[in-house]
Amino acid sequence: MSATDIHCEGLVRIFTAQGVEVQALQGLDLRVDAGEMVALVGASGSGKSTLLGILAGLDTPTAGAASVDGHDLTTMGAKERLGYRRQSVGFVWQQSGRNLLPYLTARENIAMAHAVARVVPPRERGPIGDDLLKMLSVDHVADHRPSQLSGGQKQRVAIAVALANSPRVLLADEPTGELDETTSAEVLGAMELANKERGVTTLIVTHDSGVAEHVDRTVRIRDGRTATETLRSTLTHADGTTVRTAQEYAVLDRAGRLQLPAEFVGALNLRERVRLALEPDHVEVRPGHAGAPTPDAVPVPAVPVPDAPAAPLTRAEARRRLEEGGGR
Ligand SMILES: Nc1ncnc2c1ncn2[C@@H]1O[C@H](COP(=O)(O)OP(=O)(O)OP(=O)(O)O)[C@@H](O)[C@H]1O
Ligand SMILES: [Mg+2]
Repeated sequence: MSATDIHCEGLVRIFTAQGVEVQALQGLDLRVDAGEMVALVGASGSGKSTLLGILAGLDTPTAGAASVDGHDLTTMGAKERLGYRRQSVGFVWQQSGRNLLPYLTARENIAMAHAVARVVPPRERGPIGDDLLKMLSVDHVADHRPSQLSGGQKQRVAIAVALANSPRVLLADEPTGELDETTSAEVLGAMELANKERGVTTLIVTHDSGVAEHVDRTVRIRDGRTATETLRSTLTHADGTTVRTAQEYAVLDRAGRLQLPAEFVGALNLRERVRLALEPDHVEVRPGHAGAPTPDAVPVPAVPVPDAPAAPLTRAEARRRLEEGGGR
């Protein structure tokens, strides 16, 4: 078992549509450890679904490295890819119609996932399906078809279907995008439960700010790159009360690049270039464009120019050197 289940480094995906290139991912780095539950957020068009499509084995990157559960997604052949999609990853989409077959009941949808993957022995399939429906509190609607389920119930059944073959990794692309706030919280709670009880590594793309309650790490993508991360932890006071704390970090890649948060850039009107200074325990970033306020001017040390003449030649000296044939 690897300690890192999802690993992307310098991931690039370029789409070409009608002669126009779109760089959906521009050197994205991401690491998700085994058993972690991480939320992936970012503006529309920032590359979230593109990343999930690659991690799900539905699409291949243009460049860079990506591996999930020890499978190299860039070199995987058709046979490995099929096995990978059946056994290593489970997927929950935003549209419940994409997750469930409409003419099958909840229980039958899980049975179908088992039948297609053929990784669970037939006699274990029924009990596994019933356990999943119970864990996700939809056992009472096991014999209902999707049209007879509420939006939240459909997504919880979809989670059960995605978990049917005990994948190591669960990927979800806006699983609560079509739900109201209360139902969204229930579905995110169900994913958190699945993560805690089954230890399935979970990556959720979401616009839902309520996700902060359910994950310890939120990764923000900006322009096809991971830009910032928020890490949360729960502190317990001496009197037993608990408080959630959050700390935001910028992501630093192997080449030392980082993105400054947009609000920092805006607040100091940073543009074009900035001036950096190394302090004993931090790095200072100051505006560097013309007209930006300058702190104490730093004296520029005189740099000796190699081979520079000590002083300009006088006309007489130049003539003398020419006559000697030295050329200078
Ligand atoms: N198949 C494709 N062909 C051409 N361009 C594409 C394709 N898929 C995505 N893109 C482009 O890649 C960029 C990233 O798209 P993506 O769907 O990954 O964004 P997203 O972060 O999931 O956005 P949203 O929050 O709206 O779902 C966008 O500019 C999009 O138009
Ligand atoms: Mg998307």
